[in-house]
Amino acid sequence: MREPHFIGHYSFMKFLVTYATRHGSTAEVAQTIADELTSHGLDVELREVSTVDSIAEYDALIIGSAVYTTQWVGEMRNFIKQFETSLIEKPVWAFSVGLSGVPKSSANDPVRVGPVLLRLKCEDHRTFAGALKPKELSWRERSQARLGGAIEGDFRDWEEIRQWARSIAKEIENS
Ligand SMILES: Cc1cc2nc3c(=O)[nH]c(=O)nc-3n(C[C@H](O)[C@H](O)[C@H](O)COP(=O)(O)O)c2cc1C
Repeated sequence: MREPHFIGHYSFMKFLVTYATRHGSTAEVAQTIADELTSHGLDVELREVSTVDSIAEYDALIIGSAVYTTQWVGEMRNFIKQFETSLIEKPVWAFSVGLSGVPKSSANDPVRVGPVLLRLKCEDHRTFAGALKPKELSWRERSQARLGGAIEGDFRDWEEIRQWARSIAKEIENS
């Protein structure tokens, strides 16, 4: 087991919830997480990852990305590379949004999204079922999704997502 990060008194903590998306379903997951943390009295900022220039002002982060062909979106992989040294020093929770294993939920295995996430030693990593709306995809994406066996539909389980955010808020309250 890894050493837990020092978390400090939660009411003084500033959280960054940042996400990478191609078609918006991960943005709505991130928004739901941010709203839930805010409703627990936490100070939360929500940002699309390419708009984050610095993470110095944040005490803790929740980072999440859509999964495309088994990888996190490039902008999020770049973000982790760019800020790796300071990310390692802060508590980080991670989530993936994808469809492998849908409708059965898949294993929460960070290996699936590559070594970039493993280096961070996150407090937790969760995989949420995403959404696939073929009409919004390019021709190339549609055929890739079809080849990968992805099913059309919106499988996001909002209660599961809110529950995860609540468990983070509780963890901080009790630290
Ligand atoms: C071209 C393509 C490739 C995908 N590859 C994967 C994959 O490897 N693993 C997975 O779990 N989901 C995969 N998905 C499903 C997406 O992760 C899912 O649709 C997700 O909700 C998209 O998030 P976004 O709307 O935030 O971009 C793929 C979807 C598309 C269209």
